[in-house]
Amino acid sequence: MRKLKLVNGTVFYHGRFQNLDLTIDKGRIVRLDPSSLSGSSVSPISPVSNENNEIVMDCSHLHIFPGFVDLHVHFREPGFSYKETIETGSRAAAHGGYTVCCTMPNLKPVPDTLENLEVQRAIIRDKAVVHVLPYGAITCGEKGAKLANFEELAPYVVAFTDDGVGVADEGRMREAMVKAKALGKAIVAHAEEIALVNGGVIHDGTYAVRHHHKGNPSASEWKQVERDIALAEETGARYHICHISTKESVALLREAQKKGLPVTGETGPHYLTMTDEDLREDGRFRMNPPIRSGADREALREALIDGTLLAVATDHAPHSAEEKSRGLDKSLNGIVGLETAFPVLYTQLVLTGILSLEQLVEAMSTRPMASFRLPEVKEAKASLGIPYGIEVNEAADLGIWDLNAAYTIDPETFLSMGHATPFAGWTVHGMCLNTLVGGESAYEDPAWKERCCD
Ligand code: DOR
Repeated sequence: MRKLKLVNGTVFYHGRFQNLDLTIDKGRIVRLDPSSLSGSSVSPISPVSNENNEIVMDCSHLHIFPGFVDLHVHFREPGFSYKETIETGSRAAAHGGYTVCCTMPNLKPVPDTLENLEVQRAIIRDKAVVHVLPYGAITCGEKGAKLANFEELAPYVVAFTDDGVGVADEGRMREAMVKAKALGKAIVAHAEEIALVNGGVIHDGTYAVRHHHKGNPSASEWKQVERDIALAEETGARYHICHISTKESVALLREAQKKGLPVTGETGPHYLTMTDEDLREDGRFRMNPPIRSGADREALREALIDGTLLAVATDHAPHSAEEKSRGLDKSLNGIVGLETAFPVLYTQLVLTGILSLEQLVEAMSTRPMASFRLPEVKEAKASLGIPYGIEVNEAADLGIWDLNAAYTIDPETFLSMGHATPFAGWTVHGMCLNTLVGGESAYEDPAWKERCCD
């Protein structure tokens, strides 16, 4: 493997963008130097070989980000490979500039024992092109009754979650938090009180009334967040809230953090960029929790700006074309997100001046990585070489982006098997040209590939 030198890129290094030359050798970043190429006439993305026999790529006008970290994806294997596989999901991740994905446990078998988890881990070892770190289930079969085998799973999972369903029983959640704390693990909660959902399919707001859909009220989420934060305070457990969609959950999270509780939260690109007024009678607008009101979107944006929200996570949830073809009322919950997250947020939040590019990159990479820097992830890091950002001696896990490229989102170009996205047809800026994992390309844009292989 020859040395690779990425010169004159705008590199996210130590919290800010700097013009740097980045040298990669044997999968690691070995040098970071002030850019040597300013003013040179080498054309962008044109590799040359220098006297040290390094491949030199001119990255003028390109941005280099640490690989994105998604705390919330569904790769559907084992059990539902007709929707997505670990290979297709991780290829989609690399296409979106991600190098770490944490996979949710609503699988078959559910990873509630080490034996079950091992089925997933074997496929990851064989097929994943980015780092794929599984969650363990909170309860056996995600059925909400008996706790999963926490002790057995703990060394191999990011944290514990029953994502897809809420843990209805308060006593069970308390028990889970006590165990997770003893093992140095987080509880990652899909907060949803099913009795309050009351069969609602979209947000209980103006669109639902106008189009005669059953509404899902915000309380179905925030009531369980409220309960769980009280439990986290009582038990001292580290608690993380999945896909926050409501302003009330944001307020509860902010209060908990003010008290100094170890409580964090994530939201998704769709909650940050759309409101229920944007819904259409189409399954690609159906997910759980639903996209809510303008006031909710505003609160989520504020929380991302002031740091109350730790991370943006996609909740990439692919389903088959048939499962998403049954309209808003009958399609399965879930949209894909890995291949659109950065361009959508860059276009909608950064180019409009709502969020800085630094804040966006931190919410998509360094913040979730650092916060989940738990013992087991450290072990995973040691064996997998997962870096915590762009740094000398760290593995070269990064994305090279052309932020000037503008295009229309077309699901036919996705590497994911899932195509249902509410962002289809949106014009966005920001194209991932190359994603490196351990210095090797996990995704290469055809134009970049052509240049590299000249
Ligand atoms: O929309 C969703 N899809 N929300 C969930 O909580 C689960 C997910 C899935 O697994 O499809």
